[in-house]
Amino acid sequence: MRAHARIAFTLLGAAAFGCSTSQPASTTTAAAPVPTSGDVTERRFVDSVLAGMTLEEKAGQLNQLTGLGAPTGPGGAPAGFQQIRRGEVGSFLNVVGRDTVIALQKIAVEQSRTHIPLLFALDVIHGFRTIFPVPLAESNSWDPAAAERSARAAAAEAAVQGISWTFAPMVDIARDPRWGRIVEGAGEDPYLGAIIAAARVRGFQGTNLRDPTTIAATVKHFAAYGAAEGGRDYNIADVPERTLRDVYLPPFQAAVCAGVATLMAAFNEVDGVPAHADRKLLTDILRGEWHFDGAVVSDWTGIGELLNHGVGADSGTVGRLAMNAGVDIDMVSEIYRKQLPSLVRTGRVDRQTLDEAVRRMLRLKYRLGLFQNPYRVGTTAQARAVALTTENRTAAREVARESIVLLKNDRNTLPLSKNVRRLAVIGALAADSGAVLGNWSAFGRAEDGVSVLTGIKRLVSPRTRVVYERGAGPMNDDTTGIAKAVRAARDADAVVLVVGESPTQSAEAESRAIIELSGAQQRLAQAIVATRKPVVVVLMNGRPLALQWLNDNVPAILETWFLGVEHGNATADVLFGDYNPGGKLTTSFPRVTGQVPIYYNHRNTGRPPAADNKYTSKYNDVPWTPLYPFGHGLSYTTFRYGTPRLSATTMRPGDSIRVDVNVTNEGKVAGDEVVQLYVRDDVGSVTRPVQELRGFRRLRLTPGETRTVSFAIGVQDLAFYNADLARVAEPGTFTAFVGGSSANTIKLPFRMETANGQAVAVPGTCESVR
Ligand code: BGC
Repeated sequence: MRAHARIAFTLLGAAAFGCSTSQPASTTTAAAPVPTSGDVTERRFVDSVLAGMTLEEKAGQLNQLTGLGAPTGPGGAPAGFQQIRRGEVGSFLNVVGRDTVIALQKIAVEQSRTHIPLLFALDVIHGFRTIFPVPLAESNSWDPAAAERSARAAAAEAAVQGISWTFAPMVDIARDPRWGRIVEGAGEDPYLGAIIAAARVRGFQGTNLRDPTTIAATVKHFAAYGAAEGGRDYNIADVPERTLRDVYLPPFQAAVCAGVATLMAAFNEVDGVPAHADRKLLTDILRGEWHFDGAVVSDWTGIGELLNHGVGADSGTVGRLAMNAGVDIDMVSEIYRKQLPSLVRTGRVDRQTLDEAVRRMLRLKYRLGLFQNPYRVGTTAQARAVALTTENRTAAREVARESIVLLKNDRNTLPLSKNVRRLAVIGALAADSGAVLGNWSAFGRAEDGVSVLTGIKRLVSPRTRVVYERGAGPMNDDTTGIAKAVRAARDADAVVLVVGESPTQSAEAESRAIIELSGAQQRLAQAIVATRKPVVVVLMNGRPLALQWLNDNVPAILETWFLGVEHGNATADVLFGDYNPGGKLTTSFPRVTGQVPIYYNHRNTGRPPAADNKYTSKYNDVPWTPLYPFGHGLSYTTFRYGTPRLSATTMRPGDSIRVDVNVTNEGKVAGDEVVQLYVRDDVGSVTRPVQELRGFRRLRLTPGETRTVSFAIGVQDLAFYNADLARVAEPGTFTAFVGGSSANTIKLPFRMETANGQAVAVPGTCESVR
C-alpha cells in the first residue's frame, strides 16, 4: 500500500534529519506578528506577513515536500533542515508524530527569517488509528451523520499527532469499477455524493478550525478523475462540459458550500486540458462561480506531470501554466520553489497572482490558529487518550454494520444460527485482520483489526465448532489449499466462504481489466459449492465485482467491503442476526466486466433496450441490466410500500410538491430501510437521464410498524445544464419514482409549469445545490 510505505519513511523523519526531539518545544516562540484579539482582521494580518516576504520566501510557502524521499511516486526530493530555515518549505505531507512535528516546526518558527509556521498534512481518508469503513463502503450506509462522525473521530486522532490538514474527502463520481480508486469515493451518484461530501467536510473541520481537534479538509480530485477512460488510473477523461457540470462537479460544489478549506487538482485532463493547467476549472468555475476562497493544492507531482501531458516543454512553462490556472500549492514537484521567483521577475507570472496564492496559504495557517500556536500537537498522553478509544471502536462498529449490504438471501439462508454444530469458515481473507482495514488506512494496525473469523468465533455458541481453512486467496493462483477446504466444508453444517480482493487491489494505480474473482478464488468457490452444503458468501472488496456465477450458485451473499477495525464483529453481527442489514449499493454491480461502465442514471438513447427488438441498445450475450442495481440491498425483514401520494400534480418554480409514502415492516424483526426518491424529466431540450436520485431516508422500523416518509420536490431537483450550459428547469411532465432500489419503484407523474411556458433559470448557488 503506497500510503503506508510513504508514512513508514516519514516516521524516521526526525532522527534522519539529525534532529533532537528531547528538547521540550516552546509554544510561544512564533515571532511572526501574532493576532491577539478579534480586532486584528485576518486580511490585515495576512497582508502584514506577506509584506515582509521575499519572492523566494513566497515561492517557499507554496512548496510542499513529503517526509523523507518518495518510496513509490516520482519526485519527492528529501527535505533538509536548511530548506526550512531558508523559508523554502510551506508545508509537509507524510510527517506525523509529536516529536517530528515539533522538531521541524521549531526550525520554521525560530530559525527561519519569516518565522512562518509549517503545515503538516496526511491522507487521513477513513480513520487515523481507528479505521472506519472505506469511503465506498460507508456510502452504502446512506447515513451522512455516520460519515460526519467517522471524519470527526479521524480528525481528532490525527490532530493530536500534529496533523492539521487531510487530503480528503475524495468525491470523484465513478461509473467504472475497473478504476481502483472507486473505493475512495461515495459511488456513482452526484446527489448522494454531494450530501456525503458535505458531511465529511463538516466532520473533519468541525465548526472552527482553531478547535485543536479539527483538521482542514481537501476536496479532491478536481475534476472528473473518476471518469478515467477505460478505468485506467490517471487516464484522460473525455467528459463534455454538460456532463461535467451535471454529474462530476456537484459533490465539489457541495464541499465548497460546506466550507472546505482546500481543493486538490486532478491528475487527468478533460478535453485536452490537464486539470493542473485548467484555468476555467480552477479559477473561472471554482472562484468565479463558486466563490471558493481556500487554497488549491496540486496532486503529487501534478505540476511536473504537465510536461508529460505535453502542454509545456520545460519546468518554467508548466510552473507558469499551473500558477496562472490557479494551483496555489505545489505538492512535491518543487517547480514552484525553483521557478516562481524568476517567472515573476520576468513578468511571466504577475506578482499579484503569486501574492494571492501565498495569501491563501497564510490564511489557511491563520484559520488553523498556527500563528498563535504553531505546535498544534497533543502530548503523548493526550495522543494515547484519543486513539482507538472504546467510543471510537463503538462508532466504527456501528457504521460498519450500517454499511453492509445483503445482496442475495434465498430461502432465508441468513441469518445463521449461533448454535450451528460445525461451521466451516473458508478463504484467505477470512482470517486477515490487516485486510479489513482497506487501503489508505493511515496508522491503522493489523493487530487492531478484527477478522471475520475472529468476529464469528466471538459470537457463536460455545458449543459450535468453528473450523478454518484458507482454501485460496485473491492474489495468486495457488490451489493447493482447496482440497482441505473442501473436506472442512463437507464435515460442516454450514459454510461461510470469504472471497473478494486484497485491499491492495482497490487503490490508487490498481485498475483491473477483469473484475471477476481473482486468484484461485473462483475455483475455490466452485469446489465449495459442489459439496452441496449451505454456503454463505461474504465479500470483502473495494469495488463492485462481477459476480454472475456466485449469484447463480450460492443462496446468500453479503457485501462487507473493507469495514475497518470492527469488520469482523460487524460482519458476525449480521451473519448471526444480531444486526439486520440495511445498507444499499451506491454503485451498480455488473454481471460481467464487459458490461462496464454501467450506471443507473444513464440516458435513454433512441433505441432503449427491448427484449423483442434486436436493434436496440444492448449486448447479445449478456442481459442489459446490472446484476445488482444502484440502491439495492435486502433485509431480514420485508418492507411494504404503500401507494405514494403527491401533494399536487402540478408545481410552479417557486413551489414544491410533497411526496408521502407509507412504509411498513411486514416481517418479524426490526430493520432499516433506505427509502429512495428518483425523478425523471420526461422531455427536455437536451436528453435527460432515465432516473436521478433526489431524496433518500434511512429509517428503522419495528415489526408491524408503518411510518410515513415525506420528500419535497423543488425546482432545484428538476434543474440541469441545457445546451447553452445554463442551469435551468424546463416546464413539462416529470416522473417521480419511490422505492427501496432504483430498479424497484412506484412511478408517479407530475408537471412543472412556468408563467410563460419557458425554462426558468436555477442558478447553481449553495442554496440550490445540496
Ligand atoms: C493521490 C492523492 C493523495 C496524494 C498524497 C496522490 O498520489 O492521488 O489522492 O492525496 O497522493 O498522498
